[in-house]
Amino acid sequence: MLRTVYIKTYGCQMNEYDSTRLADLLRESHGLTRVADPALADVLLVNSCSIREKAEEKLFSDLGRLSEWKGLRPGVVIGVGGCVASQEGEEIRRRAPYVDLVFGPQTLHRVPALLDDALARKPRVDIAFVEMEKFDALPEPRAEGPRAFVSIMEGCSKYCSFCVVPYTRGQEFSRPFDDVLAEVASLAEQGVREVTFLGQNVNAYRGARAGGGTADLAMLIDYVNEIEGIGRIRFTTSHPLDFDDGLIEAFARIPKLVNHLHLPVQSGSNAVLARMKRGHTVEAYRDKIARLRRVRPDISLSTDFIVGFPGETEEDFAATLALAEELAFDLSYSFIYSPRPGTPAAEWPDMERAIKEERLARLQAVNLAHAQSVSRAMVGRCERILIDREAPRGRGDLSGRTENNRVVNFPSPRRDVIGRFATVEITQALPNSLRGRLVAVETAPASSILTPMAS
Ligand code: SAH
Ligand code: F3S
Repeated sequence: MLRTVYIKTYGCQMNEYDSTRLADLLRESHGLTRVADPALADVLLVNSCSIREKAEEKLFSDLGRLSEWKGLRPGVVIGVGGCVASQEGEEIRRRAPYVDLVFGPQTLHRVPALLDDALARKPRVDIAFVEMEKFDALPEPRAEGPRAFVSIMEGCSKYCSFCVVPYTRGQEFSRPFDDVLAEVASLAEQGVREVTFLGQNVNAYRGARAGGGTADLAMLIDYVNEIEGIGRIRFTTSHPLDFDDGLIEAFARIPKLVNHLHLPVQSGSNAVLARMKRGHTVEAYRDKIARLRRVRPDISLSTDFIVGFPGETEEDFAATLALAEELAFDLSYSFIYSPRPGTPAAEWPDMERAIKEERLARLQAVNLAHAQSVSRAMVGRCERILIDREAPRGRGDLSGRTENNRVVNFPSPRRDVIGRFATVEITQALPNSLRGRLVAVETAPASSILTPMAS
């Protein structure tokens, strides 16, 4: 009899979300408990990612290791899902015949049936693209703490020339508006105070409404703003092209929409952006930021960069460095370009590895300096945080997040404040987190009445 499941997750927050929902599903269908140690699991699943290089190799070396459990404990089931599964399909079972089931991002909900087949010794591969079926089939989400992710759309139809997502997750489709509201309301009732809407291209959201017509992301935010208990709203990832005036107005109008935006720019060179097929120029990006800053002057911005895209000259790269300096991002993720099978850019001559690495190091130095100066400038300030858990390496500390998504750890003897908004004074900026002192805790849920704390 199966009792436990271990799920190893690679990649984006959507994959994290999918893994959580998969665990919910298997709890309901087979009574499985999720465990963090593969040694304790009867079902071993890998939710894979193929956004950048070596994903396939990493997957097969992981599978090799997991297969050893099969030798030690007969009856163990091994499954693979996610974007590598979607891309490789049958090839996975050819290279790793001990894999019992293969599922894609859109067939997550069929895993219970695949598992039954695996138990009947009928290994199967099901990586169909079946749009809404998954969301309709998943059980009510269970909140795990005061922050929750809600996937509102899937796939992407932008086809940036470097990106594998449209091929692995399929074309863009949005979940119905009323389904999303119901999910958020249910999470809020379970104590969730902050919700993050997820989508590969989240601001292209167009959810059908029960009474007819569609709702965009700005309208969704307006409605969620009214749900009792929800005190903070985030969304990721936005594409600059779809970041429209409606969203800028939402930032102007809705204080619960956090003072932070992740808006990938990828490059500071118009020639590179055109070859990436991003559909906008550096000027257009800069203009959107300027308009946003008119309504939220102190908004925190984060971004993604790709360095070493085919044909990127030293001048192109210098333009990226200049843009990073100019916009002084709060946090940046920079990646070395990695040719993805099946994408147009994979056909173009790839640059020498050493040049890419050298450029990455230069860009990261600029970005790190900005990120650290933002953190240092926070020292001495009071910040509103959502207290979300005990600090992992604790000494009894609690942990929360600021509006610009930085982690703050602070001492507190009280545990009943987890899940509440609070004010902390930032006392120290460390490389990956901040330290603070608790000043006041708001009464639950999400009201603004402050209870002073003795210091
Ligand atoms: N939907 C998002 C991005 C999803 S992928 C958007 O609109 O940009 C997350 C990040 O991975 C991208 O922003 C990009 O910076 C990086 N990335 C995607 N494909 C890549 C590739 N082939 N090589 C290197 N980095 C890549
Ligand atoms: Fe990828 Fe571009 Fe869509 S980066 S996820 S194809 S917006």
